[in-house]
Amino acid sequence: MSSQRTFSIIKPDAMRKGHAGAILAEIDKAGFRIVAIKKLFLSKSQAEGFYYVHAHRPFFDSLTTFMSSGTIIALALEKENAIADLRKLMGATNPANAEEGTIRKKFAGSIEENAIHGSDAEDTAAFEIGYFFAGLELV
Ligand code: CMP
Repeated sequence: MSSQRTFSIIKPDAMRKGHAGAILAEIDKAGFRIVAIKKLFLSKSQAEGFYYVHAHRPFFDSLTTFMSSGTIIALALEKENAIADLRKLMGATNPANAEEGTIRKKFAGSIEENAIHGSDAEDTAAFEIGYFFAGLELV
């Protein structure tokens, strides 16, 4: 497979606990190239825009409150098979079900405060990269 891009967020729980450096090291070690990176503090409405596909889920309000509760690091990443490989590296959404050695197993506290986000498909990756980065920032 040719090179593919995906999008990731180091979430506020991992930032607060000081895990950002360790998570970036895992991403680097797994062979991802950082195409763009920025640290930012989302407003509630910016978090709602990012997670609009979950707007009708019961956890939407809590999720977007959490995602706007502290700083995050947004990342555009590139490698072969990036979307599936990042999701494998992250582990299951619920850290209780995450495999040993995955980022969520090591660093996540709960199904909501689960340390890291990764795109689930090519169309969502394109939307998510575009939500955070301008074309000129992708290098
Ligand atoms: P993420 O991969 O960022 O995609 C959607 C997020 O919603 C997910 O990680 C979790 O943070 C959160 N989430 C998913 N399912 C639940 C749930 N059942 N309860 C609370 N939060 C959830």
